[in-house]
Amino acid sequence: MLTIIDHPLICHKLTIMRNKETGTKDFRQNLDEIGGLMVYEVTRDLPLHSVDIETPITKYTGQELATKVVVVPILRAGLGMVSGIMDLIPTAKVAHIGMYRDEETLEPHPYFEKYPPAFADSLAIIVDPMLATGGSSIAAIDMVKKQGCKNIKLVCLVGAPEGVKAVESAHPDVDIYLAALDDHLNENGYIVPGLGDAGDRIFGTK
Ligand code: PRP
Ligand code: URA
Repeated sequence: MLTIIDHPLICHKLTIMRNKETGTKDFRQNLDEIGGLMVYEVTRDLPLHSVDIETPITKYTGQELATKVVVVPILRAGLGMVSGIMDLIPTAKVAHIGMYRDEETLEPHPYFEKYPPAFADSLAIIVDPMLATGGSSIAAIDMVKKQGCKNIKLVCLVGAPEGVKAVESAHPDVDIYLAALDDHLNENGYIVPGLGDAGDRIFGTK
């Protein structure tokens, strides 16, 4: 299922990110903050279990998260969303999937993967600001599923309709969350209007 999280704060921050005049520092800061705002909605359906504690006044049965959460950034650009998410879920672990998109063929090329113990029993939140053709997200979901993980959510900032369709048809069981669904991909595979090359804007490369 596709969910667009179009909260006013997210729209405001995303507009700052889209602006080509925005520099690396502000781009990174707004991406980080949007990551945190999005994860609040993404985790709305997380299961809880009861836990017995004592308040300073009396015994009390409270609730705590019943699922282990692993944040899975797709390198490099996904790294820009991790700390905002970890601020809200400090007990989460972080897996890493290294992947780059060939600029000519637009095919994804995985170069690294690393997962925490008991990954298969966790909720995997795959993060990457850009969902363009969908090739990188589909490959990352394939890799996570190969680890035995069945509970997967994909969180991107900006998506193209082509990419959303591709992920939905390859992995219909994975919920997709976007801050914005943009118009289309251009002839170079960039999202329009988009925000340019997310990795380069985060890290100041070209
Ligand atoms: C970008 C982006 C996604 C991918 C999206 O990464 O961060 O991972 O492209 O494109 P797709 O949906 O067509 O696969 P890139 O390959 O440029 O690597 P980077 O994060 O290192 O800049
Ligand atoms: N990757 C990016 O960083 N930006 C796009 O628009 C498409 C792919």
